[in-house]
Amino acid sequence: MIRNGQYIKDLLVSEPGHTAVAQGWVKTRRDSKGVHFVQLNDGSCFADLQVVIDAGVVTAEAIAPVTTGACVRITGTLVESLGKGQAVELRGETVEVLGDAPPETYPLQKKRHNLETLREFGHFRTRSNTFGAVFRVRNQLAYAIHKFYQERGFLYVHSPILTTSDAEGAGAMFQVTTLDLMNLPRQQPGGAIDHTQDFFGRPAYLTVSGQLEAEIFALAFTNVYTFGPTFRAENSNTPRHLAEFWMIEPEMAFCDLEGNQTLAEEFLKYLITHVMDNCKADLEFFAQRYEPNLLAMLENVASSEFARVPYTEAVRILEESGRQWEFPVHWGSDLQSEHERYLTEETFKRPVIVTDYPKEIKAFYMRANEDGRTVRAMDVLAPGIGEIIGGSQREERLNVLIDRIREAGLDEKHYWWYLDLRRYGSVPHAGFGLGFERMVMYLTGMKNIRDVIPFPRTPGHAEF
Ligand code: 4AD
Ligand code: MG
Repeated sequence: MIRNGQYIKDLLVSEPGHTAVAQGWVKTRRDSKGVHFVQLNDGSCFADLQVVIDAGVVTAEAIAPVTTGACVRITGTLVESLGKGQAVELRGETVEVLGDAPPETYPLQKKRHNLETLREFGHFRTRSNTFGAVFRVRNQLAYAIHKFYQERGFLYVHSPILTTSDAEGAGAMFQVTTLDLMNLPRQQPGGAIDHTQDFFGRPAYLTVSGQLEAEIFALAFTNVYTFGPTFRAENSNTPRHLAEFWMIEPEMAFCDLEGNQTLAEEFLKYLITHVMDNCKADLEFFAQRYEPNLLAMLENVASSEFARVPYTEAVRILEESGRQWEFPVHWGSDLQSEHERYLTEETFKRPVIVTDYPKEIKAFYMRANEDGRTVRAMDVLAPGIGEIIGGSQREERLNVLIDRIREAGLDEKHYWWYLDLRRYGSVPHAGFGLGFERMVMYLTGMKNIRDVIPFPRTPGHAEF
């Protein structure tokens, strides 16, 4: 079947007076005084097309299956709308039901459902106002990300999803194997598993980050970025963590932590501006339904300078705040969500870039500072969300990097090619990772990360 209709978003801005074919899913149908009012949506925009059908035009049998959730094609004439809220409406002349949705069993009836309930219907929540708006914003955001880097000459790298290296050295990886789990091969009877018989001849995992491979490319193409799925097997059941999430990782040669911070700030502002320009109706809906301050907050972030504060200073602010923290703060402790929110929402009232963290709480690849205690790390914290970006200047000095790998208790043999990059043609370089879903949360005001990814994967949940 060839598409022969037009998107509803185009019909809604057409001149009245011509014949049109509208296709989509019925949001609602209401019958009043011999007229059927059908709200039709095809996902192309937030607004529904109102279709008005005189009872004399269609039989009762023909209109009966036009119920919430049914898929229909309606032909008619676009006319000026007398109702408020839309400039044009469709006067329906013929109605074809392509797929009915019996109201006795269709799970998403007219009434408003809460987000938890909608999560159980991942195959239908896409037809709701909220998820229509979320996934249009997500789509525009993905487009803006590529646009931003392509306009700046960055090369898009496809980093691998299957990997044998632990990019963060944190061990939170999903193992991938084709070995028979009921009958594992052993190096000797009762001994360790014989991974030489596994698919790759050694243990393999789903990647936690494309960074190390992006570094290979940055040391040949200067400025690169990845944009792909990443996986974390940490057992965190929070509104901000997924087991499968998407990450954007730019990596730049000839760049230090200052350049890295500047790019991160420019990048976030560009994304906000793009989505505000291209998803106006969707953002207005989020403001009206979920987060009254959303538009003012986004405008404020797009136009204000991010605060920049070293970790040591951030800890001092938190210690002197007089707050009773659930997780106590002292120099050396990692910042928890409550601390990140205090800095962004109370102290600075805008995004904050915290830099130069203690080396013990950051990954092995971050460049060591002269003080011997901190590394050139940066986290961008956003009001309402906390950490949205994590990054650093990388350790480009071979001997220092070897020491850090050993100190972190990792096996330098596994990082042989990463070390080679420091042996041959090394250069100061830096990069960061933006959590794609955290950015969608930020732009929409949605409070749970499960509601901004098409199919959330969290501990115990991988339906659809
Ligand atoms: O801070 P992270 O772990 O940094 C890295 O992976 C580096 N390799 C990035 C780099 O320098 N190239 O993760 C980066 C961002 C976080 O700031 C957060 O926004 C997001 O990824 N993130 C998650 N998002 C959803 N669910 C999770 N479990 C996440 N873990 C990290
Ligand atoms: Mg981090």
